[in-house]
Amino acid sequence: MSTEKILIDEEIQLDPKRYIVSETDEKGRITFCNDYFIEICGYSKEELIGSPHNIIRHPDMPKVVFKLLWETIKQGKNINAVVKNRAKDGRYYWIFTEFESRRDVDTNEIIGYTASRKTISKHIIEVIANLYSKLLVIEETQGIEESEKYLIEFLREQGEDIEFVNIMEEIHKFY
Ligand SMILES: Cc1cc2nc3c(=O)[nH]c(=O)nc-3n(C[C@H](O)[C@H](O)[C@H](O)COP(=O)(O)O)c2cc1C
Repeated sequence: MSTEKILIDEEIQLDPKRYIVSETDEKGRITFCNDYFIEICGYSKEELIGSPHNIIRHPDMPKVVFKLLWETIKQGKNINAVVKNRAKDGRYYWIFTEFESRRDVDTNEIIGYTASRKTISKHIIEVIANLYSKLLVIEETQGIEESEKYLIEFLREQGEDIEFVNIMEEIHKFY
């Protein structure tokens, strides 16, 4: 019998002083990741480089978040999003992620994207986890268009909550 412990649904505690950074080509294939990225997700550098970034996608993440992410960064606009990722051993971690595009200095064409991630407060995680689980149910029962409507309405309603708006302001601004 295998003695290897499979850890599922356990949260990884992140160091608030360290950033988790990765870069992709224009299609979302990983071209670079820093040491902390490798340490946290548990995949080797060899497994990561060249793989699509959904290698660490968590099934609790609604599709609409990635739809908005790609629609925004493809236009060369920056966007911030709260993301739940899954490590190789099944554990998860929540991060605040800033996505930016990288351009060719001569042609100005987008040649890839950079994501820089840091920890967020438990309060924000609770709000977002609740929102994302609703979006997932809507996606399963009514489809992604309804999920997008719900998300946009939710973001509008957050107008008064400064901390939350800061977190999602780029998605909000986009509309
Ligand atoms: C620079 C960059 C970083 C990304 N980082 C993540 C990430 O940390 N976690 C994640 O699930 N998707 C990330 N994505 C989005 C993935 O490319 C993909 O859209 C997402 O995982 C959904 O995959 P799917 O459409 O195959 O389900 C990133 C994309 C880019 C361009």
